[in-house]
Amino acid sequence: MNTPTATAPTAHPAVVSWVDEIADLTAPDSVVWCDGSADEWDRLTTQLVEKGTFVRLERKPNSFWCASDPEDVARVEDRTFICSQFRADAGPTNNWMDPVDMKTMMTEHYRGAMAGRTMYVIAFCMGPLDAAEPKFGVQITDSEYVAVSMQIMTRSGTAVWDRLTTGTAFVKCLHSVGAPLHEGRTDTPWPCDHTKYISHFPEERTIWSYGSGYGGNALLGKKCYALRIASKMAKDEGWLAEHMLILKLTSPEQKVHYIAAAFPSSCGKTNLAMLDPTLDGWTAETIGDDIAWLRFGEDGRLHAVNPEAGFFGVAPGTGLLTNPHAMDTIERGNSIFTNVALTDDGDIWWEGLTGTPPAHLTDWKRRDWTPTSGEPAAHPNSRYCTPIAQCPTVAPEWDDPAGVPLSAIFFGGRRATTIPLVTESLSWRHGVFLAATLSSETTAAATGKVGVVRRDPMAMLPFLGYHVGDYFQHWLDIGEKTSPELLPKIFYVNWFRRGDDDEFLWPGFGENSRILEWALRRIEGTAEAAATPLGHVPTPGALDLTGLKVDPTTIGAALRVDPTEWVTELRLIDELFATIGGNRLPDVLREELAALRQRLAAA
Ligand code: GTP
Ligand code: MN
Ligand code: MN
Repeated sequence: MNTPTATAPTAHPAVVSWVDEIADLTAPDSVVWCDGSADEWDRLTTQLVEKGTFVRLERKPNSFWCASDPEDVARVEDRTFICSQFRADAGPTNNWMDPVDMKTMMTEHYRGAMAGRTMYVIAFCMGPLDAAEPKFGVQITDSEYVAVSMQIMTRSGTAVWDRLTTGTAFVKCLHSVGAPLHEGRTDTPWPCDHTKYISHFPEERTIWSYGSGYGGNALLGKKCYALRIASKMAKDEGWLAEHMLILKLTSPEQKVHYIAAAFPSSCGKTNLAMLDPTLDGWTAETIGDDIAWLRFGEDGRLHAVNPEAGFFGVAPGTGLLTNPHAMDTIERGNSIFTNVALTDDGDIWWEGLTGTPPAHLTDWKRRDWTPTSGEPAAHPNSRYCTPIAQCPTVAPEWDDPAGVPLSAIFFGGRRATTIPLVTESLSWRHGVFLAATLSSETTAAATGKVGVVRRDPMAMLPFLGYHVGDYFQHWLDIGEKTSPELLPKIFYVNWFRRGDDDEFLWPGFGENSRILEWALRRIEGTAEAAATPLGHVPTPGALDLTGLKVDPTTIGAALRVDPTEWVTELRLIDELFATIGGNRLPDVLREELAALRQRLAAA
């Protein structure tokens, strides 16, 4: 093997010695320091096509179809660990293992794991390169798929190496698919190991991922760094790392508002981030679709930055009717499609892309598929990976190191019952309570049963790098750091409530602009609201429903706070609070729950 140090594009001693150490441990055939160039993209994508991992699409420029191992299709929450020094610091919502034990055990998995493969070293930056304190990472991986995906999803390559000078802090991100290619063994299109570990060492700002090639487990800048490790950095440094989209809205009067919204996986962030408003005169521009880092600006307001440079969006359900801007983005090419179906003429297809499926497809398991096959052609968690810069609605501010000042934060989940279409919180702390008790039905974005209601505080349950009770306190503390009128107003939404006929009560997608408009007019003081035990909801007539064919009774049902449904809900919130434990659950949240209980009893 070539000595990694000889070819390193950096003299940063901690980078070089770590790369040397990992090369010794994992024993790759060679080490490549990635420069993030178009040449590198061409070389690696060509290699992936030759290996059978990728199929080059005929119908989209510079784009590829990819099918994973059928067992490696989603985040693995039961294999995800927060290895803080003390178990108590990981909290009741995370898997924990002692960091020394975890490293000892994983070291044996990594030993020789890259045999027969190339080790890639990727320097990346989460957020704008010109940020006051840019957040760097270096990922080691033995996956070409990961190397090219990181080119889309992060700022990476030479520009980052140039800034990663001696002494600069960076997050160490180690990844192996865990499939050494020993003499005589032939590779598979999607190498991975049955055993998987997605381990985080929050105090050390280190990530060790083993056995999976799937995005959320393997593109370590995303969930592992920008949420789990960053949430801990944010706690220590006084900011927030959140599972949120960022959207710019301009009213017919040309007033600009920036909003952020947190929904659990597969619950509508990417769709809302690329909103095509149906309300006349409004424009929406995209800043981020999955992760937001929130910091106070000199103006005392919370400013949001998107740490990523690409979208890793859920494919099924994305079509010209639901998300035309995502369709335009991928049409421009330069994209990777994982676990969707492949058409006979070299294009991609998934459920919801068009009304009628093609007569023949290759499905995500590489089998022949016809409309009578009886199974979806695309995996429900199939994804497109595409650069944000080519989104037709991207706001110029998306790359602004100062971020954008937030007027409002929306929290929401997927609930068939109980949670109203929109509720305005009564205060920051009441908003934090609503967010802390957020719940949603599970989706295909993580392995496990789909459709089970679970609490998902701030839509961060799978992404918290520390104790959930301390996290709630941190949110409450953030609210004390500036004057109340400068804080974003918190709203709670649910696009997914269903009627007695099991149909969605609200049409959603572009029509959600009507809900955002009401919220922004509430902030400006020009919209009517009615008090409910949960918070303020629009009065009949306060929502602009011009041109929308919905029955007022349906809207009434969507907005209803039903005390009988809340009997069950309160019990579930009690359960959440009980698992957090008295000594770490902020008293403020207990008080908010008691106040809600009282308002419901009086209703
Ligand atoms: P992650 O990227 O996994 O974090 O998820 P996400 O929050 O970005 O989810 P996404 O926007 O991709 O939405 C996934 C699913 O929600 C798709 O099946 C969409 O069709 C559906 N969806 C999104 N917005 C709406 C809406 O307003 N109403 C309804 N009924 N469904 C929606
Ligand atoms: Mn997500
Ligand atoms: Mn998304």
